[in-house]
Amino acid sequence: MDLSGYDLLTTAVLLLDGDYRVRWANTAAEEHFGLSRKQMDGLDAQALTHEAPSLIKVPLRGLPWAWLYELPMRQTRLDDRQHARTEREAQRESLRNLAHEVRNPLSGLRAAAQLLETELPDPAQRDYTQVIIAEADRLVELVDRLVSPQRHGLDLREFNVHEICERVYTLLQAEFGRQVLIQRDYDASAPELKADFSRILQALLNVGRNAGQALTENPDIPAPKLVLRTRVAHQLVLSSRQVRLGLVVSVLDNGLGVPESLRDRIFHPLLTGRARGTGLGLSLAQEYVQQHGGIIEFDSVPGRTEFRLMLPLEPIS
Ligand SMILES: Nc1ncnc2c1ncn2[C@@H]1O[C@H](COP(=O)(O)OP(=O)(O)OP(=O)(O)O)[C@@H](O)[C@H]1O
Ligand SMILES: [Mg+2]
Repeated sequence: MDLSGYDLLTTAVLLLDGDYRVRWANTAAEEHFGLSRKQMDGLDAQALTHEAPSLIKVPLRGLPWAWLYELPMRQTRLDDRQHARTEREAQRESLRNLAHEVRNPLSGLRAAAQLLETELPDPAQRDYTQVIIAEADRLVELVDRLVSPQRHGLDLREFNVHEICERVYTLLQAEFGRQVLIQRDYDASAPELKADFSRILQALLNVGRNAGQALTENPDIPAPKLVLRTRVAHQLVLSSRQVRLGLVVSVLDNGLGVPESLRDRIFHPLLTGRARGTGLGLSLAQEYVQQHGGIIEFDSVPGRTEFRLMLPLEPIS
């Protein structure tokens, strides 16, 4: 019997035998449970679905299966993502406006400090004007990072995603390689990606650096390890749609995990859990990936954190 139609559904579907064992699962169920069809074959369906918020059980007659279980939750996830995205966009917009307002007075402040410096009779006093100038520069840089994604359109070209992974690998190796074991796990079958090279590079680097920092800023992590992984994925649910073919670039680390208090808002700008963080890394990475019709997601428990950059491998509609 041809079951491929079920793979087009956004809801997870399981087909069970008379003993309530899974005999088949659609792609949505594979993604939902994080298990392949093969891995689910023979599992106790009751145990598998006992945490599902809603479950539809359909008895089947005259078919090789006894039951069809449907978990209509991927749609909810899609709605959640759309809602989160709208909220983030609104927030970024007001931040951008604020940034524009802040930029001009900052330039004035800096220029005035420079003028003052030339007038100061005692060179020792220049230490103070230097502080003003340096801090103004730091703020301008921050403000520039806040407004930057809007500045130019995407510079699309075709390339292999592993070119980006290799660059990021080299950079992470240089920054964290002495303390962290950095591994690569690539899917060689990944087709070419049509995207803005520098933005995807920046997005992956931001996520990779976070993982490196999570591993090195805490000295108690035994055998710190970071993995860069690529996979081609079928039926990928992205922020506003589902695509047939996509690319998932993951950064995995075995650090302590994302602090509970940050989880819901981790992609919001200026949210940081680090003493010296600006909290812009993930917000920019998310923005860059979303400009390509993709999304960044994460799962995190102590000892295993995975950030996934999910990109469509079909034209942006
Ligand atoms: N792999 C990870 N493991 C644990 N915590 C993480 C991880 N990635 C991100 N975080 C948490 O999420 C926060 C936000 O990350 P984000 O990259 O947006 O900002 P930042 O790293 O603090 O500053 P910036 O990237 O702007 O220098 C981090 O401060 C950190 O607390
Ligand atoms: Mg960061």
